[in-house]
Amino acid sequence: ALAKRIDRPIVLVGMMGVGKSSVGKRLASLLECPFVDADDEIEASAQMSIPEIFETYGETYFRDGERRVIARLIEDCDGCCVIATGGGAFCNDQTRALILDKALTIWLDSEIDTLVERTGRKDNRPLLQQGDPREILGRLREERRPYYSQAPIHVLSASGPHVQTINKVLQGIS
Ligand code: S3P
Repeated sequence: ALAKRIDRPIVLVGMMGVGKSSVGKRLASLLECPFVDADDEIEASAQMSIPEIFETYGETYFRDGERRVIARLIEDCDGCCVIATGGGAFCNDQTRALILDKALTIWLDSEIDTLVERTGRKDNRPLLQQGDPREILGRLREERRPYYSQAPIHVLSASGPHVQTINKVLQGIS
């Protein structure tokens, strides 16, 4: 019944490691609508991994590709869909304008300890390889807060299982 009322893409924004993909997948399955991960789509269309794209072409090029991919995912969304975006996507002015215009945007946020813990599980984030991950995550989280806070729905994701976060998201969109 809930899914029927949602006729726009739901876009999850927020820091690396906050759980956009995990929460997004489960949210989509509860709403019975498709889930897409923008980072996966970027890798598929570039035929390269994200670290390779950063390494070969740099971040500015990556942000352009990211914006095109997100625009396409939003365009292709038929009624309801859930889109997880990379942590920097919503901080690009054009990408943010596009998302705010066309989608229901949800900002997921977590404490630094949780971000450090969750990003520590994988070694696929070029921005965290330039120094101490805790320091970088803390700085980016402060720099990006003014952008993320433009999302109309804010949800705090605690450490531990995502079920509470998903319930808060469901409350936020209902
Ligand atoms: C980035 C986050 C990553 C990925 C890229 C850049 C960022 O996505 O897009 O490494 O600028 O915060 P996740 O948020 O899914 O880790």
